[in-house]
Amino acid sequence: MIIVLFGKPGAGKGTQAPLLAAALGVPTLATGDELRAAIRAGTPLGLEAKAFMDRGDLVPDSVILGIIKHALSEPRAANGVLLDGVVRTVPQAEGLDQVCKELGRKVDAVLCFDIDDEEIVRRLASRTVCEVCQSPYTGREPGSTCDKEGGKLVRRKDDEPEAIRNRLAVYERQTAPVLNWYREHGTRVAVIDAVGSVQDVTARALGALAG
Ligand code: AP5
Repeated sequence: MIIVLFGKPGAGKGTQAPLLAAALGVPTLATGDELRAAIRAGTPLGLEAKAFMDRGDLVPDSVILGIIKHALSEPRAANGVLLDGVVRTVPQAEGLDQVCKELGRKVDAVLCFDIDDEEIVRRLASRTVCEVCQSPYTGREPGSTCDKEGGKLVRRKDDEPEAIRNRLAVYERQTAPVLNWYREHGTRVAVIDAVGSVQDVTARALGALAG
């Protein structure tokens, strides 16, 4: 089972991914988390990605496709994987399709978390994330402690107002067309109302997958 979690920055993909993964019994792959880990480790991948991410621009497709190919080939992904914010351009959708064909697999569904820009700005302006496990929090001050890993909560550089505006523009220009690509290629796209309690959104997503 390969499920693509899709939606604007701040739509709640990172919040929903572990909940859906636990319910479905599959691991997650979040390219944003992979890239931030590479930046912290100071690897060549991290050095290449950092400037793009700080501005809110997309990291080049070639980098992302390398991450996708590696992750899907790992034994832990044999029974399925939830792709969190992984497919953000049509070339990435095409590349993922190619990797899936090589592995005899396919994308089963795309869950698109739907939310308006005003709510996104509100959410991201008050977000902090654990610097160890990346878990997002709302309304917790930087410097407080993560409930899960005990790491320090920090603000993301791309949650500054200018970077948020750029990320939303990049989404409209480069990422939104991916939904039609999937529809045209016969993959099920379910649009999930992403406003409401976290539990309600999880239930909507699981309902859409079961339906
Ligand atoms: P990434 O880390 O994936 O960022 P994003 O897509 O911009 O998504 P966010 O993490 O900002 O939001 P989210 O949808 O996960 O929402 P969250 O659950 O945190 O990517 C960062 C960067 O890496 C990109 O800009 C790009 O540079 C690069 N990158 C990554 N993948 C790439 C790719 N495939 N191609 C190219 N470049 C790539 O929730 C947001 C807030 O809302 C949190 O505070 C949360 O607590 C809160 N919240 C969540 N759900 C609810 C709810 N139901 N009600 C109220 N509050 C809620």
